[in-house]
Amino acid sequence: MSFLEEIQRRRTFGIISHPDAGKTTLTEKLLLFGGAIQEAGAVKNNKIKKGATSDFMEIERQRGISVATSVLAFIYKDKKINILDTPGHKDFAEDTFRTLTAVDSVIVVIDVAKGVEEQTEKLVEVCRMRKIPIIVFINKLDREGKDAFDLLDEVEQKLGLTVTPLSFPIGMGYDFKGIYNLWEKKINLFTNENKTTVSDGVEFTDIDSEELEEIIGETSAETLREELEMVDGVYPKFDQEAYLNGDLQPVFFGSALNNFGVKELLDCFIDIAPTPQPKMSDTRLIDSKEEKLTGFVFKIHANMDPKHRDRLAFIKIVSGTFKRNQPYLHVRNNKKVKFSSPNTFFAEKKEIVDISYPGDIVGLHDTGNFKIGDTLTEGENLNFKGIPSFSPEHFRYVNNADPLKAKQLYKGLDQLMDEGVAQLFTLELNGRRVIGTVGALQYEVIQYRLEHEYGAKCTYENLPMHKVCWVEPSENNEEFKEFKRVKQRYLAKDKRGQLVFLADSAFTIQMTQDKYPSVKLHFTSEYE
Ligand code: G4P
Repeated sequence: MSFLEEIQRRRTFGIISHPDAGKTTLTEKLLLFGGAIQEAGAVKNNKIKKGATSDFMEIERQRGISVATSVLAFIYKDKKINILDTPGHKDFAEDTFRTLTAVDSVIVVIDVAKGVEEQTEKLVEVCRMRKIPIIVFINKLDREGKDAFDLLDEVEQKLGLTVTPLSFPIGMGYDFKGIYNLWEKKINLFTNENKTTVSDGVEFTDIDSEELEEIIGETSAETLREELEMVDGVYPKFDQEAYLNGDLQPVFFGSALNNFGVKELLDCFIDIAPTPQPKMSDTRLIDSKEEKLTGFVFKIHANMDPKHRDRLAFIKIVSGTFKRNQPYLHVRNNKKVKFSSPNTFFAEKKEIVDISYPGDIVGLHDTGNFKIGDTLTEGENLNFKGIPSFSPEHFRYVNNADPLKAKQLYKGLDQLMDEGVAQLFTLELNGRRVIGTVGALQYEVIQYRLEHEYGAKCTYENLPMHKVCWVEPSENNEEFKEFKRVKQRYLAKDKRGQLVFLADSAFTIQMTQDKYPSVKLHFTSEYE
């Protein structure tokens, strides 16, 4: 197969949802279709169970699972599908945001009874900002849920999307009979009483034909016709370009658990979803079809074995091919590096791979050279953009609890921050270190890992801050100097040495901006 054909056949995407909407179940069903697993239940649930926040073994177990499910690849109808796992737990939202920098599209799973939930809103907002193509899958149609039109409204309003249904449910909950597939013009019905098997789908192009009554009964036929007429009148026609530009989002209905509507989703997905997309770097736009390798690290995972402190850096290939034992430039370090055992992921297995293509993810063993956002090239000096840090929501001072292990503590902190577990800030005034996280759970993870992987102990002290803002330096400006003098106690450096301002409230940020209008405060670390 040629290089271009390899690119054309790849689809790299992420599934996002609020916990419990059915992301794991859907992933598993997709893998079943791809023949990558043989039975349901094979994909371990990658979520932190309620009440597990202080159970360290649970955290470790989850880390093990999340390595295994970081990337799930399979072949379906000759397409190479790469699913990137995104943790649903809100304390790991940063991880999910970063993973979204490596996907070419997403599928959003929504629970028919719960509708749009908080975590989904946040994640979809990021996708919308980046114009990532989105397909919506409304799940659990076998249960009583919201009316389909109300749900579509809710999706439009809460998620700011423009939807167009490509399938429509026939009944719901107890009366759920099946779906009409508008994409393929087919009717799919459950074939048995307990709704566990599904027909292959009967071609049904003329919805006005009397045959409809024979298949789904008089009342359902009438309702379906009315509903489809509404769909036709209210929603825009599907347009692939609009979908690819992030302007239109197709919606599917189904039940992942019952394997209903999943094949329709997958069949449509491989037809419409984008192939590996170009990506902006700090110097130019890189096209996936360029022959020279470029790629970037979007995730780093520490290995489970504490005796070998090696880590797995996950690289998304943007252009060219990644070959085993070939030297590449690690741009930030300005060093040539080569890898004798790059890993690829197939279903849940990790294997050594000789060559990978744009859209693929390779796992590289790393002894501490990589940071999230690092770029690899064949020599060109460029860095991929778009992996900013967002302001954490929790802040604590970190103190060394074992004076003999200071070196281990700082090394451990350094490496954990490279992995993107949390963000470290060093106060300008006294050099004290502050750890900022999205959720409280991270503090326990850090403390546990420092002790078990680095032999260091730490304690925390709460720091009641609201947010950090990244400050754009303008040294020649009197106002900036004044700002730095007055706010000295609240200034710190992030890990890359960028200046940040720790604000204790939204009000403080507003006041500061009013008082020093020429000082630019930014809410993400990438502000140019
Ligand atoms: P998540 O990864 O998004 O967190 O969700 P997950 O797939 O784990 O699904 C959450 C729960 O919803 C699971 O039940 C799962 O079986 C159920 N579920 C998923 N899809 C459907 C569906 O189409 N219909 C119905 N009725 N339920 C569905 P659980 O009891 O929490 O877990 P388990 O004990 O069944 O594994």
